[in-house]
Order: sequence, then C-alpha cells, then structure tokens
Amino acid sequence: MKFFMFSMLALSFLGVSCNKEEKKSKELYPEEVVDPNDPKVIIEQGKELFNSNKAACYTCHLPDKKVIGPSIQEIAKIYQEKNGDMFAFLRQKAEPIVDPAQYDVMKANFAIIKTFSDEEVKSLELYIKSHLK
Ligand code: HEC
Repeated sequence: MKFFMFSMLALSFLGVSCNKEEKKSKELYPEEVVDPNDPKVIIEQGKELFNSNKAACYTCHLPDKKVIGPSIQEIAKIYQEKNGDMFAFLRQKAEPIVDPAQYDVMKANFAIIKTFSDEEVKSLELYIKSHLK
C-alpha cells in the first residue's frame, strides 16, 4: 500500500513536470511557426532536402550562379514567366522548359526523385520558387 501511494505521488509529479515542459515548448515555438502547412516550414524542409546528400540537387544548382545546371533563381524565373508546372516536371510528366539541350544531365536524377513523396517534391518546388526576386 505504501508503495502504491508512493507510485501515485511519483506519477502525479511526473504529470506536473510534463505539463510544464509542454508550456515551455509552446512559448519557445509559437504554434504558427511549427504549423506543418506553413509555407515557411515547407520551404525550410525543401531547402534541407535540396542540400542533403540524399537528393544532392545542390551539387548542380547554386542559388544565383550557373554551374552544371541552371541557377535556382533562373529556374524559378523561367517557371514563373512560362507558367510552368515544376511538380509535373519533377514527376516526369512535363517537358523541360529551362535548358532542354541539357535535359539528359538532369534526367539522371529522376531515379532518386522517384523515391520522394509528393510532399517532398512539393517542398523542393516551393524552395526553388522562394528564390524569385
Ligand atoms: C548532375 C547535375 C544535376 C543534379 C544533381 C540536379 N540537376 Fe536539376 N538540372 C540539371 C541540368 C543540367 C538542368 C538543365 C536541363 C533541363 O532544363 O532539364 C537541370 C534542370 C532542372 C530544373 C528545370 C527543368 C526544366 O524545366 O528545364 C529543375 C526544376 C531541376 N533541375 C531541379 C532539380 C532538383 C530538385 C534536383 C535534386 C533532386 C536536381 N535538379 C538535381 C542538372 C542537375
């Protein structure tokens, strides 16, 4: 019985301290910042994926300078000007509109892009489009 009471006491303490933790994290991260539908959060996820070794987009696409592939700004600009569907392109359902002559180099990436979820592909698109000036 003593043990039982002790456990109940311990449990209620635990409860109190958990609540405190919860309050603290809400103060540190107001809800709108961690809203998974917030474009800012999605862009941040896209940026992480773009620069990860898994996706490796960063090896050919720099923000503002052409290297092997067109710059991210250039891609964003042309997609806006031509009202292109980047999601469809990344799913191989639309033709290249930025530099079709170099399409074969980009094509090699579809093997890995295929393994990404729709959410991941959308986050890459949003990240690229966030470079519009
Ligand atoms: C090996 C180099 C290389 C890597 C890695 C690479 N790209 Fe590309 N990418 C290119 C080249 C070259 C082009 C220009 C050809 C073209 O327009 O399709 C291009 C074009 C594009 C375009 C414009 C397509 C269009 O409509 O013409 C998008 C969007 C794009 N890349 C996204 C990505 C994303 C997202 C990743 C990472 C998953 C990635 N690229 C990884 C080389 C690369």
